[in-house]
Amino acid sequence: MRFDVLTIFPELFTSVLQEGILRRALQADQIAVNLHNIRDWTVDKHNMTDDRPFGGGEGMVMKPEPLASCLQDVQEGEQGRVVLLSPRGEQLNQKIVRRLAGHEKLVLVCGRYEGVDERFCRKYVDEELSIGDYILTGGELAAMVIVDSVTRMLPGVLGCADSAANDTFSRGLLKHGQYTRPRVFEGLAVPEVLLGGDHGKVYEYRFLESVRETLQRRPALLHSVEFSVAELRLLKKVGLFQQVQEAIKKNVH
Ligand SMILES: C[S@@+](CC[C@H](N)C(=O)[O-])C[C@H]1O[C@@H](n2cnc3c(N)ncnc32)[C@H](O)[C@@H]1O
Repeated sequence: MRFDVLTIFPELFTSVLQEGILRRALQADQIAVNLHNIRDWTVDKHNMTDDRPFGGGEGMVMKPEPLASCLQDVQEGEQGRVVLLSPRGEQLNQKIVRRLAGHEKLVLVCGRYEGVDERFCRKYVDEELSIGDYILTGGELAAMVIVDSVTRMLPGVLGCADSAANDTFSRGLLKHGQYTRPRVFEGLAVPEVLLGGDHGKVYEYRFLESVRETLQRRPALLHSVEFSVAELRLLKKVGLFQQVQEAIKKNVH
């Protein structure tokens, strides 16, 4: 998969791409990340990427021409999906991440200042995505979030094939708590069931913990979970079925 990032600060990406899973994915050619400095597509003698807003007001706006010229070059050959990072965009979630991972090429446009000239957005952008209801100084951190979250969904990127499938949000349930050595930490012991080696019991324990965590922290997620017959039976057996039903009812609009 190929990411093309349009930014005025390409250096910001360097360290993120030099460590951990992203570095390995780059080395294994599972991803390519091409950083394009929008300033290289300016034509005026001061290499301006921004200008004052028509109608007045504070701040500067990113000019459409350098962005458009840069994008046209980047889109030569294979056309990628153009994503503008923007606080007014749809909020990123795991479902969107999965969808983005299905594209061969993503073009991520990072805004700065007060944002990007609206005509560029309307003419060139396929979708706008936000990483949350807060304002960043620029789209670069949000673009890194997309590169990171999408890359770990690509086949073969994670060491253990099951990791992504069992992540929080992958089926709508939060992940159960995890434990490692030592067996007792500051008087707190690891739950006995995890030490016994009975995989069936471990599975049931973790599933029920996931349901309890979701009920307590994010009950609205439960309405999209598809429980198997065996799971529903287990929920009934331990007395959680009713609570799950109520949480689902509350969140179906
Ligand atoms: C300072 S912000 C502009 C905010 C704009 N004045 C507003 O009120 O919506 C500059 C750039 O950072 C990026 N950005 C800021 N917050 C973001 C968020 N929550 N998600 C994605 N990108 C964001 C966008 O690319 C945006 O154009």
